[in-house]
Amino acid sequence: MPRSETAVFPRREREEDRRKESDQRKLLDEFFDHATLLAVSRLVSQGQFDSLDFPISTGKEGGVFRATRGAEFRAVKVYRIGNTVFRHLPPYAVEELRRETSARNWGGLIFAWTRREHTILGRLTDAGVRCPRPYGHFRNVLVMEFVGTPEGAAPRLKDAAIDDPAGLYEELVREIGRMIREAHLVHADLSPYNTLYFEGKVVLIDVAQAVPTDHPDARRLIDRDIANFARFLGRAGYEVEPSAFLAAVGGDRVGPPPKEG
Ligand SMILES: Nc1ncnc2c1ncn2[C@@H]1O[C@H](COP(=O)(O)OP(=O)(O)O)[C@@H](O)[C@H]1O
Ligand SMILES: [Mg+2]
Repeated sequence: MPRSETAVFPRREREEDRRKESDQRKLLDEFFDHATLLAVSRLVSQGQFDSLDFPISTGKEGGVFRATRGAEFRAVKVYRIGNTVFRHLPPYAVEELRRETSARNWGGLIFAWTRREHTILGRLTDAGVRCPRPYGHFRNVLVMEFVGTPEGAAPRLKDAAIDDPAGLYEELVREIGRMIREAHLVHADLSPYNTLYFEGKVVLIDVAQAVPTDHPDARRLIDRDIANFARFLGRAGYEVEPSAFLAAVGGDRVGPPPKEG
């Protein structure tokens, strides 16, 4: 390599290093305030994972990180303390959570939200729904099964290549149907963003806002979930009537029980 270039490269690399370092610091500052670091170290000392490796996704409401535990990977979701998580929820839902948990501030609500996601993932796993198995939680940090390979996390359905849309429909009917009939839950934020595509099958994620099938809003929410996916399937080349899709998953029967009298 000519001399002039060897002189250039090290400086470029140094700049690149500095940029990486400052990106990492920003990420650290954003997600890992003192309390969150303590929560992470608590989970490490519980044996939940040995190290956080890198962010898989960072957003306004939190971040998801790959973690390593011995020879296996785990996924760690860190919720930001604050009200951003609750902004897209209807106010009554936040009020319900507040009453359920007697949380006195946003921090308390976030911890309850994290616990709820853990509980719901557990119910779904028990019902045989394809979702990440939950391993533990502490304060605003949730540990779950990592969906992916050593090469990286599984793509979202939105970013995946779909070569068998009819098969995908069958898959979705099976998983959403199990969620409704076996776990008695409506996801309520189902979309190709909250569905991973792994080994040719769907994996449902991001479940904290799920509601029981007898919730007053359950029917409206399942209608919306189904409409989202019917549109997506249509674009992928598989036309399905939302009403038929709904009936196939048992969604036409959700909602509060009829009043007696
Ligand atoms: N268990 C997991 N394994 C692999 N990737 C995951 C896992 N959970 C979440 N992800 C990735 O992180 C992203 C954000 O996770 P999600 O639970 O949807 O959080 P939010 O939408 O609230 O930020 C997902 O789109 C997915 O790419
Ligand atoms: Mg999501």
